[in-house]
Amino acid sequence: MEKKNRSGAVIFSPYVKGEAVKKVVSMKREDVLFDLRESKLKGRGGAGFPTATKWTLVAAAASTEKYIVCNADEGEPGTFKDRVLLLEYPELVFDGMVIAGYVIGAKLGIVYLRGEYEYMLKSLEDYLETMRKENLLGKDIAGKTGFDFDIIIRLGSGAYVCGEETALIESLEGNRGEARNRPPYPVNTGFMGKPTTVNNVETFAAVSHIVIKGGAWYCNHGTDKSTGSKLFSVSGDCEKPGVYELPWGTKISELLELVGAKNTKAVQVGGASGFCIPKTQFDRALGYEDAATGGSIMIFNESRNMLHVLKNFMEFFVEESCGQCTPCRIGNTKLLEGVEMIEKSEFTFGYINKLKELGKTMQVASKCGLGQSSPNSFISILENFKEEIFNSGGSHGK
Ligand SMILES: Cc1cc2nc3c(=O)[nH]c(=O)nc-3n(C[C@H](O)[C@H](O)[C@H](O)COP(=O)(O)O)c2cc1C
Ligand code: SF4
Repeated sequence: MEKKNRSGAVIFSPYVKGEAVKKVVSMKREDVLFDLRESKLKGRGGAGFPTATKWTLVAAAASTEKYIVCNADEGEPGTFKDRVLLLEYPELVFDGMVIAGYVIGAKLGIVYLRGEYEYMLKSLEDYLETMRKENLLGKDIAGKTGFDFDIIIRLGSGAYVCGEETALIESLEGNRGEARNRPPYPVNTGFMGKPTTVNNVETFAAVSHIVIKGGAWYCNHGTDKSTGSKLFSVSGDCEKPGVYELPWGTKISELLELVGAKNTKAVQVGGASGFCIPKTQFDRALGYEDAATGGSIMIFNESRNMLHVLKNFMEFFVEESCGQCTPCRIGNTKLLEGVEMIEKSEFTFGYINKLKELGKTMQVASKCGLGQSSPNSFISILENFKEEIFNSGGSHGK
C-alpha cells in the first residue's frame, strides 16, 4: 500500500502510524469526547451527524457489549475517496476505529467493505496483522491494561442500500440488506441488538488527527458550521479528476479551476442522490451551510445532455430500491417513466409537475435515505435545466 504524493491541511497532513492510539490510552474518555465536541466534526458519510454526539450516546448506553462499525461501502455514484484512504492511509482509519473502541468501550470493530473492493482485502488484513504484532490491536493495547480491541473485515455484495447504516447492520448479521425502522437507532440497538456506532471511513481518519492536534486546531480549518477539511472525489469532464482535500467553504468555481474543468455547465454535488448545480450558481460554497456533500463531485461540460444524465441516475435508483416501501419502489419507477416520456416528447407539463410533487412526497414518506434523496436529481435537473430539456424536445446528445 503505497502513498501517492498527496497533500492537504488535515487528512493528508503528516501522521505517524499508531501515534493517536498511544496518546489516547493515557487520556480519559471524557477528554477525548471533549476534543471531538470542540472540533465540531460531523460524520463524513453524507448525513453530517455530529460524531461527538453519536459516540457519547453509545458510550453512555447501558450494555457490556458494544460495536464499532466502519462504513466502507462507498456506494454513492462518483465517490472513491474511501478507497484512497483505505489503500494509502489505513493507519488513519484503523487508529480512528481503535480510538472509538477506547472511548465507547467496545471490544470489536467491523469494517463493512464494499464488495467491489475485495481486491484490497488481503492487504488490509495483512495490515491489521502488523497492528496486532505492534500491540496496536489485541490485548492491553499500547500497554493499557484491560484495553482489548480487535478489527475484522466483512465484505458487502454490491447493494447500494447496504451503505445505509441499518441495512448495513442487517447485512452484517447475515440478513437481507434492508433498512430497519428508526427508532430505535443503532446507538442503542445496532449490531446484534447492541449499542453500535456506524461511521464513515473518512470520519475515523479525521478523529486520528484530532486526537493528536486537538479540536481547536481542527476548527482552524473550514468554516464555523463546517469545520475541518473534506475529501472530494472529482470525476467527469475535467483535466485532473481524482481525490482532493479542500477546506469546507471552497467555492464550486474554485474547485473547477483547480481540477482544470472547462466549459462546465453542471456540477452534481453529492452523487446521484445529491443536487445538480447550474453554471449560474457556481459561486456557491461546499459545506453544510450551502452545498453539502459526502464528497462526490461530478462535472458535466456543455456537450452533455442533462436528460441523459438524469435518466442514468433514475435507472440506478429503480435498480437499487430495495422495494420495502411503496413511495420508493413505485415512485422511482414513475420518475423514470417521466424521464422517458420527456425523451419521446410524449408528456404534458401538468403531468411532469405532478411527478415533481410525487418526488417531494417521496422525500418525506420513504422509509430510508435512499427514497428520501433519490428525487433530488429529478427535481433539481428538471428545474435548473428546463430550457435545455424541454426546448430540445429531449433530443439525444452525448
Ligand atoms: C442509500 C444510502 C447509502 C449510504 N451509503 C453510505 C456509504 O457508502 N458510506 C457511508 O459512510 N455512509 C453511507 N450512508 C450514510 C449512512 O447511513 C450513515 O449515515 C453513515 O455511515 C454514518 O457515518 P458518519 O456519521 O461518519 O457520517 C448511506 C445512506 C443511505 C441512505
Ligand atoms: S426508501 Fe427505498 S431503499 Fe429505503 S426502505 Fe424504502 S424501498 Fe427500500
